[in-house]
Amino acid sequence: MIPRQHNKAFSSLLGRSPLMEAVIRTAQIAAATDVHILIEGETGTGKELLAQEIQASSSRADEAFIIVNCAALPVELVESLLFGHEHGAFTGAVERKEGYVQKAHRGTLFLDEIGELPLAIQAKLLRFIEHGESQRLGSAEVEHVDVRIIAATNRNLMRMVDSGEFRKDLFYRLNIVPMQLPPLRQRKRDIPELAEHFLRLAAERNQSEPSKLMHNALEILKKYHWPGNVRELRNVCEHVSAVLPGQLIGPEQLPLDLTAHPAKPGSGSGFELPQEGLNMESLEIDLIQQALEYANGNKSEAARLLGLTRDAFLYRLKKHNL
Ligand SMILES: Nc1ncnc2c1ncn2[C@@H]1O[C@H](COP(=O)(O)OP(=O)(O)O)[C@@H](O)[C@H]1O
Ligand SMILES: [Mg+2]
Repeated sequence: MIPRQHNKAFSSLLGRSPLMEAVIRTAQIAAATDVHILIEGETGTGKELLAQEIQASSSRADEAFIIVNCAALPVELVESLLFGHEHGAFTGAVERKEGYVQKAHRGTLFLDEIGELPLAIQAKLLRFIEHGESQRLGSAEVEHVDVRIIAATNRNLMRMVDSGEFRKDLFYRLNIVPMQLPPLRQRKRDIPELAEHFLRLAAERNQSEPSKLMHNALEILKKYHWPGNVRELRNVCEHVSAVLPGQLIGPEQLPLDLTAHPAKPGSGSGFELPQEGLNMESLEIDLIQQALEYANGNKSEAARLLGLTRDAFLYRLKKHNL
């Protein structure tokens, strides 16, 4: 396994769980190239932070990083906001204007929530990606713009392709190096480090000592299913820092809705099937490999981590040729 490079690159992205390490390794490789990138992941999983880190460790680091939330663009203005317009292109277009694409020239354009782009604009974006050519609204002139696109989505774009809501050719053009940020509930071992980080940041901002989580409070955080992912964890930490600065935080001091929705004891593993489904065979292989990794290759320990007898574990190793 290639270790994460020990430089400042990607250092703001905390978390050492195997799933995170894998994403960051892919991102490091992609950052060194100029390919367009698609980052998939639920809301709050760190897509924007990852995009910033990719930009910062790319050859475009000193150029513009333009953030556009596609869901927030008014439908009638999407095209002119993205690609610019000529004087008089539409009522109210009193001057010639650059779009985000021109503003990002030589740099990176972060297209957040790209699944929300109207189909007609997707077609124009594809033309831009394929030829680097952009046309302002109301102009016949073609401009050459050099932009790397990092797109992000919390929707399942593949499924949107199937239902005709997202262009297949655009999807494949963006999805050259697939990157999926795992939900926080699939990397719970990162929670202590993240919580400590957010408590420290909040304390710095409030000029107080950082609050500390008691062991059993941390256990509750680890059991919770985190629908809002890292952003929600950050909010919880900011809340306790504001209310109980510098204090020791017990389970009862955590915001109430947090203790109300832990994964129910006795109702299975707490694992949630991703919306888009999964491949059970490869999941089993992943779990076996991760268990072996955590257990430093000790098979009895790996079996224990998976709740299997040693024999049952050895049987599965053999089954998958591991
Ligand atoms: N791995 C991480 N390490 C540290 N902070 C993180 C990490 N992932 C997300 N964050 C923080 O959580 C918040 C939400 O992240 P963001 O990138 O906006 O998520 P998304 O774009 O996927 O909704 C931000 O404050 C971000 O800095
Ligand atoms: Mg975001």
